[in-house]
Amino acid sequence: MVTKKKDSVPRSGRKKVVLAYSGGLDTSVAIRWLQDNYDLDVVAVSIDVGQPGDMEKNIDRAKGIGAIAAYALDAREEFAEEYVWPSLKANAMYQGAYPLSTAIARPLIAKLLVDVAKKEGADYIAHGCTAKGNDQVRFDVSIAALAPNLGIIAPMREWVMTREEEIDYAKKNDIPIPVKKSCPYSTDENLWGRSCECGVIEDASKEPPEDAHEWTVSPLKAPNKPTYVDIAFDKGVPVSVDGRRLPPVELIMKLNKLAGENGVGRIDHVEDRLVGIKSRETYECPAAVTLIKAHQAMESMVLTRDVLSYKRGVEQRFSELAYDGLWFSPLREALDAFVESTQKYVTGMVRVKLYKGNVEVVGRESPYSLYDEGLATYAAGDEFDHTSAKGFIYVWGLPLRTVAAAHKAKMKVVDQEPAKAAPKKAPRKKAT
Ligand code: ARG
Repeated sequence: MVTKKKDSVPRSGRKKVVLAYSGGLDTSVAIRWLQDNYDLDVVAVSIDVGQPGDMEKNIDRAKGIGAIAAYALDAREEFAEEYVWPSLKANAMYQGAYPLSTAIARPLIAKLLVDVAKKEGADYIAHGCTAKGNDQVRFDVSIAALAPNLGIIAPMREWVMTREEEIDYAKKNDIPIPVKKSCPYSTDENLWGRSCECGVIEDASKEPPEDAHEWTVSPLKAPNKPTYVDIAFDKGVPVSVDGRRLPPVELIMKLNKLAGENGVGRIDHVEDRLVGIKSRETYECPAAVTLIKAHQAMESMVLTRDVLSYKRGVEQRFSELAYDGLWFSPLREALDAFVESTQKYVTGMVRVKLYKGNVEVVGRESPYSLYDEGLATYAAGDEFDHTSAKGFIYVWGLPLRTVAAAHKAKMKVVDQEPAKAAPKKAPRKKAT
């Protein structure tokens, strides 16, 4: 869905900038700042990747401030299908902890900004990232990969205004200051998760306070009875919950709710930013944590040991590339092709148990299962040929036995040497 309203008049001869507009104070101030400091016409673009907020209201606000055009783009479906699902297939978790929710939305936002820039004939793209985070890197690098000729402006990286000065600037320029319930943290939200940093969270020695969480209840307050959920996968993609087929966006939202109600998906992590800073952040990713665990369980049923083991390395590299802003790199795309080829038989059902902050896999089945009860059982009906074990172990252990024998022989030689070399005490001559 694309909504476009245009009423302000572009100034003749002025070049255009496409601004990623969130509706907040920073990007609202940026509209006027770009006009004043760069003499550009501003086209504001609000992109819905599942965060709260009214995109239609953003259109009116941006135009009220002076944007010559404003777009509201609903990108949730594209986000789920083209960014979340490939990441899920790769079980993508940065440093084994963070499901990359913010990181994987950035390349999509960059792509949509580039599309609008081309359509509008703009020369620049602007975004509201600061100079200390990863997001500026992700935007700048993704835009450069898709449209190397576009200029990039990051007002917040350039202006030297404090928060108070920004508010003053807004007041002087009749920029409405968004009334938001005050939040002591810096947060970012989309379908795949909510991230939270700054404020008291910066003290890594202290437990994050309850008010840092919005999507999950405290496990202490979670129901005393577990919630069981059946998740069906088709070629690595989750397609139904409890037997009900759901489109991607709804499926993710449903699991965010079910898992969040059980306190599942809280992550407290000290993370290595690309810009060299270690930062303490908390995340709430109920659906992501649940789905990654379920997906891994499905894979362990249908993939061979070799593929599973090799894929772990690919997953880690994939996650680093996504984190580092290299989504549109040839390597990420090549790894994606590998991952995709492993998902052919990742089809079946996984049952998870959500209980007081924990998600456990308690059952799985697949038409392509490599798990063979006849081979696995210790009970009657065992089909494993017990006589083959001895011969197999003889061959399997042969290299080690050979090594051991060779080393032992050598050690004997070494052991004997000092004895040989030691000068024998001359027998005392008997006194005659
Ligand atoms: N540290 C995370 C990342 O780099 C999340 C950053 C989100 N931004 C924010 N303002 N909280 O992907």
